[in-house]
Formats: sequence, structure tokens, C-alpha cells
Amino acid sequence: MAADDLVELAKRRGFFFGSNGAYGGTAGFYTFGPQGAALKRNVEDAWRDRFTIREGNREIEAPTIMPEAVFEASGHLDGFNDMLVECPECGASHRADHLVEDATGIEDAEALPGEEVEALIADNDLACPSCGTPLAGAPVENFNLMFATDIGPGDAQPGYLRPETAQGIFVEFPRLKEYARGSLPFGITQIGPAYRNEISPRGGLLRLREFTQAELEQFVDPEEDEPPLDRVEDVEVRLYPATEQAADDGEYLHTTIGEAVDDGVIGSPWVGYYLGVAQEWYERVGVDMDRFRFRQHLAGERAHYAADCWDAESEVGGDWIEIAGFAYRGDYDLSKHDEYGDDAFTIFKRYDEPKTVERATVDPDMSVLGPEFGGDAGAVAEALATLAERDPDAFDAETVTVEVGEGDAAETHEVDADVANFAVEEVTETGEHITPHVVEPSFGVGRTVQTLLAHAYREDEVDGEERTYLSLVPEIAPQDAAVFPLVTNDDRLTALADEVAADLRAAGLAVAYDDSGSIGRRYRRQDEIGTPFCVTVDRDGIERDGPDTVTVRERDSAAQVRVPVDDLAGELAALRAGESFDALVDRYETVATDVETN
Ligand code: GAP
Repeated sequence: MAADDLVELAKRRGFFFGSNGAYGGTAGFYTFGPQGAALKRNVEDAWRDRFTIREGNREIEAPTIMPEAVFEASGHLDGFNDMLVECPECGASHRADHLVEDATGIEDAEALPGEEVEALIADNDLACPSCGTPLAGAPVENFNLMFATDIGPGDAQPGYLRPETAQGIFVEFPRLKEYARGSLPFGITQIGPAYRNEISPRGGLLRLREFTQAELEQFVDPEEDEPPLDRVEDVEVRLYPATEQAADDGEYLHTTIGEAVDDGVIGSPWVGYYLGVAQEWYERVGVDMDRFRFRQHLAGERAHYAADCWDAESEVGGDWIEIAGFAYRGDYDLSKHDEYGDDAFTIFKRYDEPKTVERATVDPDMSVLGPEFGGDAGAVAEALATLAERDPDAFDAETVTVEVGEGDAAETHEVDADVANFAVEEVTETGEHITPHVVEPSFGVGRTVQTLLAHAYREDEVDGEERTYLSLVPEIAPQDAAVFPLVTNDDRLTALADEVAADLRAAGLAVAYDDSGSIGRRYRRQDEIGTPFCVTVDRDGIERDGPDTVTVRERDSAAQVRVPVDDLAGELAALRAGESFDALVDRYETVATDVETN
């Protein structure tokens, strides 16, 4: 199904639609309708179950607006840019790299310098997609994607809407490490909105200006911590490594996580571990594994913080889209916040046994440094201490040279070595401060939702009638079940149907109730939104001897079984948790097929 058709279907069936339609619409913002909000919540719950609860991680919820200093430290203020080209005629803004990619087949124009993209625009005679004016000569500029705001009135503090949920975790590391009792490894997750002022939002939920991320920041000691790789080593994956993408006859690598890590195709065992967990999770929520791959980033494509990165990609409407990224962020984020922030973004790593080490120290005579260097005396003393740690041999000479200040203000000073009072002492250390490394699985929830809809779409024929349906897995489907009285002119049936629906809802199941139109029409309505089970209250079920029964119909096969009302909530809950419908077919009486009545 083409991407546009899917977006249209999502709108018609209450999954999602462009926001603020009454005011002309706002590109890049989507509202989830009743089906979509439920589906999205189920995806988030399944993610939470797998990446937070089952991994023993903890979830937090941080503010979405953060002060400018955070993004100065994180590098987003300087480096979180896309390439913008504006049409000189109509003023429309376009992603310059995307125009080049679409026209030339170059896969990663984002990694090219701006001048090269300008040249490609000119050489390929690219024109404005909105009005057709040639774009040759139009400058390609860096456009920062963050939404700016003011925090407070008056002399407001500049702030930004977070472009990734991750920063809300990193800035709170000094407190979060205390909750983890200062011990690595530990993982913190967050599910919430992120904001990017995308130049060209497109593709329904694929490129939005406000979207939901589900992120895990796994803090590890790079020298000691190993992931539990044995849990996923046999998981089979389809990899598209950077080397294969660069080769003319590049191919997918079909392998297992264990082999890919052993062979060094996946450089970090932690990244390998989470690729394995993610593959299993995507399969669980209903991604078609024939339309799924892991693609390694090319060197120029990686975000400013990433040492290595793999994307989970799904095929939607004929294109591969990135639905999650798995980055090895190293110590980039915590080191930056340690440098810019006031707290310590390190962990004290205790040694098994205390160690006695030699430590070079200085104890400068300030009564000499003060008169000699005036206002620079303190900085000179600090520079001497740093030099002693870095290059103790420098103190063998009669004078020591240090530099204070930075850039144009830098000054070199000569200090008499005797004044520094250099010494080497033996000290006993119980541990050291280390900066943890970060491994980050980062999922786009909206892109997952759109993938699930695309992969669940089916057309077939039931009882001689064409139908379209969504083969969503029960755990993810917006409704767990729908309840129908077979006919509406029999009070006994409608009363029992009401009671059944109320009981199922009380048992925590999301249940629709429908008594309008033919039963076949009602089945189709539920099929279209992916409701996995339809419960029909019919006369047969209440007129026979024994306890009342209802029919339960499974969406994909349209097979039906007759189940006692008393068993219904338990059976539906088991089906939602993953039990196969075949188990019910084995245990209960089967019913012929859809019946047209009323
Ligand atoms: N903290 C890492 C990070 O933000 P990213 O690759 O920029 O990495 C992670 O984003 C995921 O968020 C992507 O894989 C994608 O699924 C989703 N995402 C990113 N930008 C998006 C956008 N403009 N609209 C919808 N989803 C987006």
C-alpha cells in the first residue's frame, strides 16, 4: 500500500490525522484518534514491559523544556542542524540533502559538506518542488532544528523544547546515580514527546515536529560491564553493514547476534545485545520480519555524539524508514555535562583492594607567586598542579614553564622550580572516578505505529465478500474485543450482551459494543480497525441447556468457537497475552461461520 493511501486509511479509521484542520492545519503535527491513541499506548506499554521492566531498568519523566545551557553542553545548539535551501521565487523551504538524494540516488547526502550539496543542486538542475523555479545558486544553509522559547517573563531565560528525551536523563545523572547506589551498570528509560522544527515534515507520522520517543540510556563501565549476550546470541538478524552499503554489489548479512558480535560486525556487545532484544520485540508487536533490517550508519551520517550507530529500519510504502537508532554514545554526554554543569557526572569506582600509588604534587609558595604574578597567581598555581600530574619530569629543570588563560588571552610564565615545592608522595587509593559510557536504544513510537499499520494491512474474501482488515497482534490492537447482540429485537440477548461487555470492561479489557447493522457489517467494521476477537450473543447460546455461551470469532481466520460466558474474560485475557486461538478451537465447540441475520 502506498504511503499516502495508508495515511488516508489511518484518518478514515480513526488512527491519526493532521492537527488543527479547522485553522488550516499545521504541518508536522498529528492528532491520534481513538484507535490510534489506544494503539500507541499499547506500543508504549509493550516497550515499557520489554525495555524497562524485564531489563530491570527504571523509568523517569523529565520536563520537555530545558534551559539553553543544557543544549550548549550537549552540542545541539551548534550541531543539531539540517541543510536548508529556500526557493528564491516562492520562498518555500526544502531539505537540500533530500532533494539531492531524490534526484541523484545518492544515499547519504546529509553527510556531504554544504558546498558539495549546492554544487549537486546546480549540476543536476534541481528545481523548487513547490513552484518549479531552478534552485542553482541558492545558498544551502544550516538550520537548527530546536524550537526556542522563553522561560519566565521579563528578563526571561532562553530555553528550548527538548529535541530528544535523552537529555532529560543525562542532566539528572548526578541524582540518578544515587538512586542506583553509585553502581554500574544501570539503565534509565523515558517515554515522552520530543520536538524538532523539521524543514519538510512528511509521510504522516514519519517526519513530525512533535513526536514521541521511547529511549533507554544504559550506563556502563566500559572496562568491566558485559551485557547478558547469551540471552540473544541465537537471535537471527538481517544486517546491512556500512561496508556492504559502500560496495557496488553490497548484500545483506544474514547472521545471528552472537556471530555478528564475535566477528566484530557489530562493534559493541551492548549494541549487539539491544539489537537482539529489539528484533524479538519488533516481532512480538507485529512488525513483518521480511520487511525489517538493521542498517549501520555510514561514518558521515552519525550524530555528533555517536561513535557507532545501527538503525532498525522497516519498509513502508516501498521505502526503508528508520524506526529506531542504537547508538554507542561513549562518554560524550556525561563528559560534556560534567564540563559545563555544576555537578559531578562521574561514578566512584571502588577497587577490590586499596592501591598504593605514587602521586606527584606541588605546594607552590604563594608568598612568591603573589607578588610575581599578581592576579594570575592562582591560575599559575593550578597550572603547576596540572603539569605535575601530566609531566612530573618537567620539574627536574631549574625553571618550569606554564601557560595560563586561553586563546588570545593565553600567557606563558616561567616559575622557579623551588617555588613549586614539587614532591612525589605515596598515597593509598580506594577507587577512582570514572565517566560511564552510554549505550542508547532510541525508538520512534509514531514510526512504529505507522509501520504496524502498514504491515498489518490485508485484503481477502470472507463468505464471498471482499474485506480489508488489519492483522494487528492482540496485545497491540486498539480494542481487545467487540461485543454484539446478534439481533436487537430480543431483550434477553441485548441484556446479556450489555452484561458481557460490562464484565469484560471490569476485567480490564478494552471492549467495543455494536448493535447497529447486519452482523456481517459489524464484523467488517471491527476487522477494519484490527479488533482481534468479536463476541456475539445469540439465541443458541442462551436457549440450550447448561450455562450461557457466546460465540468468539477470530479476525484473521474468521473461525468461531462457542465459549461459556463465565470463561470469556479469562480466555480473552489469555489470547491478549499471546495464547493461540487454536488452543480455543481444541477446547471448545466450533461454530460454522459468519451468519447474516437481523
Ligand atoms: N536520542 C537519540 C535520538 O534522538 P534519533 O535517531 O534522532 O536519535 C530516534 O531519533 C528515533 O526517533 C528515530 O529512529 C525515529 O524513529 C524517531 N524520530 C526522529 N525524528 C523524528 C521525526 N521528526 N518525526 C518522527 N519520528 C522521529
